[in-house]
Amino acid sequence: MDSMEKIVSLCKRRGFIFPSSEIYGGLNGCWDYGPLGVELKRNVKQVWWDDMVAHHDETASMPGAPATFGMVGLDSSLLMNPKVWEASGHVGGFSDPMVDDRETRARYRADQLAIYRVELVAPDGAIESYDEMLFAAPGEVGKTDVAELFEPHRKRIASLQKSRGGREARPVAVPNALQDEALRAKVLAPGASTPGTLTAPRAFNLMFKTHVGALEDNSSVTYLRPETAQGIFVNFKNVCDTARVRVPFGIGQIGKAFRNEINPRNFTFRSREFEQMEIEFFCRASDSAEWYRYWRERRYQWYLALGIKAENLHLREHDADELAHYAAGCADVEYDFPFGRSELEGIANRTDFDLRQHSQMSGKDLRYFDDQETNEEARRFLPHVIEPSAGADRGTLAFLCDAYAEDEVGGEARTVLKLHPRLAPIKAAVFPLVKKDGMPEKALEIYRALKKRFNVYYDEKGAIGRRYRRQDEAGTPFCITVDGDTLTAGSVTVRERDSCAQTRVGVKELGDVLSERLGA
Ligand code: GAP
Repeated sequence: MDSMEKIVSLCKRRGFIFPSSEIYGGLNGCWDYGPLGVELKRNVKQVWWDDMVAHHDETASMPGAPATFGMVGLDSSLLMNPKVWEASGHVGGFSDPMVDDRETRARYRADQLAIYRVELVAPDGAIESYDEMLFAAPGEVGKTDVAELFEPHRKRIASLQKSRGGREARPVAVPNALQDEALRAKVLAPGASTPGTLTAPRAFNLMFKTHVGALEDNSSVTYLRPETAQGIFVNFKNVCDTARVRVPFGIGQIGKAFRNEINPRNFTFRSREFEQMEIEFFCRASDSAEWYRYWRERRYQWYLALGIKAENLHLREHDADELAHYAAGCADVEYDFPFGRSELEGIANRTDFDLRQHSQMSGKDLRYFDDQETNEEARRFLPHVIEPSAGADRGTLAFLCDAYAEDEVGGEARTVLKLHPRLAPIKAAVFPLVKKDGMPEKALEIYRALKKRFNVYYDEKGAIGRRYRRQDEAGTPFCITVDGDTLTAGSVTVRERDSCAQTRVGVKELGDVLSERLGA
C-alpha cells in the first residue's frame, strides 16, 4: 500500500471520511465526514476563523503589518442572483477544456492529459523519433510518472525497440497535441486499443446550474456558487454601511462551494462539493503590493504554526503568463501531498476588478467613502483587493497527510496521527486502568468534569495498550489513566501521544494543565 492508500484506509476505518451515499455506490467527487472527520474539519475552520477573524485584534500592532486593520465575518447565501456570475466572469469564462474518449468513454481535462512521443536513442547518442503513435497519460507534463506511462505499452515499445536494433526508448512531451487535428489522430488514449479516439477539447463550464421556483425555463436559471468570494463582493457596501469598518479591512467567509469538476480525484483534493475559507481584503491601490506580500507570508506561516512540516510546504509565485488578466500578482501555498506537490491555497492581488464589475453590472456605486480624507479626489475610490483563498477540505487533507506516521512503541508497531492539539478531533481520552476497584467510577467523574471544557472520550474496554493505540490513530494528544494512586493520592497519569511520555498530574489541576498543553 502506498502512503495515500494507507491514509484513505485509515480515514475510512476510523470514521474520518466516507464516500458520499456509499450504500448506493457513492457519487464521484463527493465525500462525507464521519464522527472524527467532522471534528477535525470543524477545528480547521474554527482555528482559521479565530486566527483570521474573531480573535484578530486591530488595535494590536501586527508583526510585519504595514498598518492596523479590522476583520469582520460574513455568511452569504449559496444561491444568488445569476447576474452575480455574469459580472464575475464565471458564466462566460469559468470552464475547463474537456476531451472525451469515444472508445473507452472516459472523460479528461485536456490540460491534465499528458501526451508523449517515443524517442529511440542509439548507443552513439543519435536520436530517432517515433512519430506514428503518441501516448497519452493522465497527469500534467512534468508531473506524470513516465515509467508508469510506458507500462501499458511495454510490449508495443519493446517490439519497436527490437525492430530498431534494441535502442533505448524514452518519452518526450508533445505540447498542445490535442489541439492539433493531425497529431490528435495519432494519440493512443489510456486504455484505448487504437489511436485517434479522443475528441477535440471543448470548453466545459464548471458551474452547477439549477432553477429557482416552479418554472424550469431560462428565466429561472441560477447556479450553485463556485466560490464564496462573490458573496463578499456583493455585500461590500452593506458591510461598509453597517460595520464601521475603515479601509484597510478584510471580510472573511467560510462556506460550501460547488464545481462540476471534469475529473474529481486524489481523494478529497479535487471534489465537486467542498468548503472554502476566503478573505477579501480591501485596501488602497497604492498599498496593495505591500498587503499582498503581507497576506502571502501570513497565510504561509499559518500552516507552519499548525504543525505542517516546513519541508513539505512551499510558497510559489505565479509566472506572469499564469495570472488572470485582471490580477496583479498571485502566489500558491503548495503542499507535498503523497500524489505530488499541489495547491493548498491561493493568494491573489485581484486589483479593483470585482468591485468594478459589480458596480457596472448592478449600476450601484460601490466606491468607498473616506470621510477623514481631506483631499477631495482621494475621498471616493474603489478599493483594491487581496484575496487569500483556502480550501477547508484540502487543508484538512494536508493536515491528515502531514500528521500520519508509523513508528514503534515498546517494540510494537503503531500508526499515529500527530495532529496539532488545536486540530485534534478528541483532545483527551480518559481510561480506568482496570474495570474494578472503583476506577471506572472515578474515571467517569473526571471524564464528566472535563467534558464541560473539552471534547474528551471515555473508554474502559480492552488492554490499556490497545486503548492507547486507538487514540494514537485518532490523533488524540493526551490519554488520562485512573489507577490505584488516583483513589489514594488524587493524581492521574497523563500520557502524551507523540513522545508517549507519562507524567502524574493532580486531579484538581487536570483541567488547567490540559488547557495549557492544548493551547486552548
Ligand atoms: N475565489 C478564488 C478561488 O476560488 P481557487 O484557486 O479556484 O480560487 C481556492 O480556489 C481554493 O479552493 C483552492 O486553493 C483549494 O484549496 C480550494 N478548491 C478549489 N477547487 C477545489 C475542489 N474542486 N476541491 C477541493 N478544494 C478546492
